[in-house]
Amino acid sequence: MGRKNKLRKFSEMLSFDNVVQNFDYLKPMLVRGANEEVDFKGNWSRDFFGNDHGLILELACGRGEYTLALAAHDPGNNYLGVDVKGARIWKGAKKALDAGLVNAGFLRTRIEQLELFFAPAEVDAIWITFPDPFLLKERNRLTHHRFLNKYTEFLKPGGHIHLKTDDEVLYEFSLESFNSWNRGKIEYHHQDIYAGPLENEVLNFKTYYENKHLEEGRKIKYIRYKFDF
Ligand SMILES: C[S@@+](CC[C@H](N)C(=O)[O-])C[C@H]1O[C@@H](n2cnc3c(N)ncnc32)[C@H](O)[C@@H]1O
Repeated sequence: MGRKNKLRKFSEMLSFDNVVQNFDYLKPMLVRGANEEVDFKGNWSRDFFGNDHGLILELACGRGEYTLALAAHDPGNNYLGVDVKGARIWKGAKKALDAGLVNAGFLRTRIEQLELFFAPAEVDAIWITFPDPFLLKERNRLTHHRFLNKYTEFLKPGGHIHLKTDDEVLYEFSLESFNSWNRGKIEYHHQDIYAGPLENEVLNFKTYYENKHLEEGRKIKYIRYKFDF
């Protein structure tokens, strides 16, 4: 994408009230619009979505296809897509606005800082959709213990962590990472979810990267972990 196009999207996004951004990771504060400083920690559903429904995050949401699909499928919960790339988030946020999907929103930040913006047990579930596998840098994988430990700072006991990926290395690594974490258990996993009937209909939603991987004939893998304490 050209630089001009990116800048246009960044600028347009400043008028979207369904997007909150951290503009400088050295200053962990959030801004809605161009300059409204906001602090939703502990009150995302009440103050951002305007209701008291549950809150579910999609990490590495990219263009937000999963956030949008889950939100449309499940209007009784709020869905917040998280990614660091503004031009990608712009796409999902614009679609949500155009569709009047009031239970879908977007947070632009590095996932490394997520625990700064949510209160203990504020989040009901986490989806991680086709994250970068970081083949050379395990500690950057979103299922590394470094990240799992962060999620415990805001995920409710009993909440689920869902991972969808096409990457064999990340899948095996994540199974091992969850199994050695000892904070709950893997409830379900499959190395090729479309080989038979889907375990859950929401697994049929597809992201931008998932569609690309399927076109290349790659197998889609899934893990669901129940975080217990
Ligand atoms: C391969 S893309 C997948 C996007 C989308 N889930 C999909 O399936 O189309 C991975 C995404 O993770 C985001 N990402 C990777 N590491 C991140 C981090 N530490 N914090 C925030 N976003 C991150 C990237 O910006 C990118 O949009």
